[in-house]
Amino acid sequence: MTQILVTGGAGYIGSQTCKALAAAGHAPVAVDNLVYGHPWAVRWGPLEVGDISDRDFLDAVIEKYKPEAVIHFAAYAYVGESTRDPGRYYRNNVAGTLTLLEAMRDQGIPHIIFSSTCATYGNPETTPIAEDHPQRPINPYGASKLMVERMLADFQAAHGLGWIALRYFNAAGADPDGEVGEAHDPETHLIPLALQAALSGEPVLKVFGDDYPTPDGSCIRDYIHISDLADAHVRSLGYLRDGGESGAFNLGTGKGASVFEVIDCIERVSGRSVPREIVERRAGDPPVLYADAQKAQRLLGWSPRYTELSETVTHAWRWLQSHQ
Ligand SMILES: NC(=O)c1ccc[n+]([C@@H]2O[C@H](COP(=O)([O-])OP(=O)(O)OC[C@H]3O[C@@H](n4cnc5c(N)ncnc54)[C@H](O)[C@@H]3O)[C@@H](O)[C@H]2O)c1
Repeated sequence: MTQILVTGGAGYIGSQTCKALAAAGHAPVAVDNLVYGHPWAVRWGPLEVGDISDRDFLDAVIEKYKPEAVIHFAAYAYVGESTRDPGRYYRNNVAGTLTLLEAMRDQGIPHIIFSSTCATYGNPETTPIAEDHPQRPINPYGASKLMVERMLADFQAAHGLGWIALRYFNAAGADPDGEVGEAHDPETHLIPLALQAALSGEPVLKVFGDDYPTPDGSCIRDYIHISDLADAHVRSLGYLRDGGESGAFNLGTGKGASVFEVIDCIERVSGRSVPREIVERRAGDPPVLYADAQKAQRLLGWSPRYTELSETVTHAWRWLQSHQ
């Protein structure tokens, strides 16, 4: 059984990935400082509580488990906060990752799978967005992730590190078996916010702009199920182990859904109405973002299982109801 270090393993996507790793015969070891993670989400292996910026802590965990690879989710991921407090993002996401990479280099861990994001593309020139689209992030969060992609390439050139950067579009849904799901605090993602509004009537869902150049005036995004994201991480490990070439892969369904389409879907699934108000556009929200994920299909053999938004919303709805 191969030990895999999962930083951010007590978080939303990390915990679902630990489940997928265990199902594939790996032994996940979650490393999390619990700033945003939850001990209850760590169910498929040990939890080591600590910070990736703490080199002594990392060395001790690596000594103890001797992992063959790292899957690196640990980061701060609030776009708005990153514009108000960029230092927090560069320190945690960039400097923290540098500490992790140096520990890996010194302890001879050959492979890393990194959580990157479509936010590294900024305002897209064309959609769907493929991996060779220019990367011009428009906020410090996206910039911090792009800087890590650059560090990965530099560590590969200098030290032979094998890496995959998975650029997720909008992560959504919950574990299909209901074992883990989204519990961000604060929550900023559309689906859980709209479900909460449907469930309790408050807070009223804010729709940021209805005058975008899209068919119904609201922003279009690509919602990818966390179970499909988890599957891509497991496949990436095998791909690197089999000698696959390092690089970046988009992960999305390849289909966009508008904010109003998501709300309609939530009303259908929940049988309740979503109270909403239209407010000003948010700065830096591109009208349309959806992925060209054919590279992951071609090279990782990955394709999303949950391509219907209603399935993703159903899992999130079940999860919210069971966690009230
Ligand atoms: N959720 C999305 O839609 C989305 C989209 C694109 C990329 N991503 C990226 O995926 C990753 C996981 O996202 P998520 O939604 O599961 O977030 P999350 O906040 O639920 O999980 C991140 C985890 O990392 C931990 N963490 C943060 N800094 C740490 C540190 N210095 N040391 C140890 N642990 C630390 C947090 O406590 C948390 O448990 C992040 O890197 C995020 O940027 C997420």
